[in-house]
Amino acid sequence: NGKYSVTLIPGDGIGPEISESVKAIYSAAKVPIEWEEVSVTPVLKGGKTVIPDAAINSVKKNTVALKGPLATPIGKGHVSLNLTLRRTFNLFANVRPCASIKGFKTPYDDVNTVLIRENTEGEYSGIEHEIVDGVVQSIKLITWDASERVARYAFHYAQSSGRKRVTAVHKANIMKMSDGMFLSACRQVSKEFPDIAYDEDLLDRVCLQVVQNPAPYSNRVMVMPNLYGDILSDMCAGLIGGLGLTPSGNIGRDASIFEAVHGSAPDIAGKGLANPTALLLSSLMMLRYVNVQNFACNSEVTGCSPYRHMDLNEHAVKIEDATLSTIAEGKTITGDLGGKASTKEYTNAIIAKLTA
Ligand code: IPM
Ligand code: MN
Repeated sequence: NGKYSVTLIPGDGIGPEISESVKAIYSAAKVPIEWEEVSVTPVLKGGKTVIPDAAINSVKKNTVALKGPLATPIGKGHVSLNLTLRRTFNLFANVRPCASIKGFKTPYDDVNTVLIRENTEGEYSGIEHEIVDGVVQSIKLITWDASERVARYAFHYAQSSGRKRVTAVHKANIMKMSDGMFLSACRQVSKEFPDIAYDEDLLDRVCLQVVQNPAPYSNRVMVMPNLYGDILSDMCAGLIGGLGLTPSGNIGRDASIFEAVHGSAPDIAGKGLANPTALLLSSLMMLRYVNVQNFACNSEVTGCSPYRHMDLNEHAVKIEDATLSTIAEGKTITGDLGGKASTKEYTNAIIAKLTA
């Protein structure tokens, strides 16, 4: 009955408030987790600004972290710390499930898809320069290894979650070489999974189809390069009630960091109005963090070593039920969902159900 130690990065803006909410719910539910709280605010080390060693070591040791949003500068300035963390721990797959919440009314009631986003390269490689005045080049970097690795993860995810199809989302009609190679990697990996259907679809077409009728995209996994996954996941969040509801996990071979898809929401920070659901649901992904020791492994880069298994699925189910039914009832929900409840009131409504 030992406790699992998990790194907690509360983050910026609404981060500390929603982290408090998760902690309160976990302690009410008696989840055997001990939070190791760390700051990732960069410090100066040898003339460079870096994430503090204490944070890095904590994630390395625990191999699992829950992270609030970190403010990301627009335009000039430092590289987003969110990206630094993904890169530091080589979190190659960003898993973003998006499913309608039964009873919570939106124009759609049958969304149930999972996006898997390549998480280390593409337009996020951060290689940019001004060639001459008024001309800037940003490099979209695509490698075979990262494409193959995320593709294989997507198929394993489909297999272990009972989803019957993997769709690679791309713009290989324009990005003929980079997206073309991404597709080749997906196609090659698909041959290892004869039980799972595989197809390819253009990103713009998927956007159009999904907002017209999301049903055909249910029961499948969509895998795509980094930037496409960033954009499409926000769009899908819009189908189910917004970014306050969508969780995510950044999965790596040696560590994984679970975080909400949303940002730090500085406009409402500190006011007790934030919706903690996305962070809470991300934490539940963490509790369900599956052991994929059986990952068919034929390459060092495909992330085949054992992942940690928390074995806390029962807790995840209970907390999820309490959360989703609170939202469905609609009496004590936050402003983003059309309610009037504060973060605390909403948190307490969930706790009341857990302890009833
Ligand atoms: C996300 C966020 C990040 C991204 C930002 C904050 C760097 O939008 O996780 O989707 O662009 O990946
Ligand atoms: Mn995003």
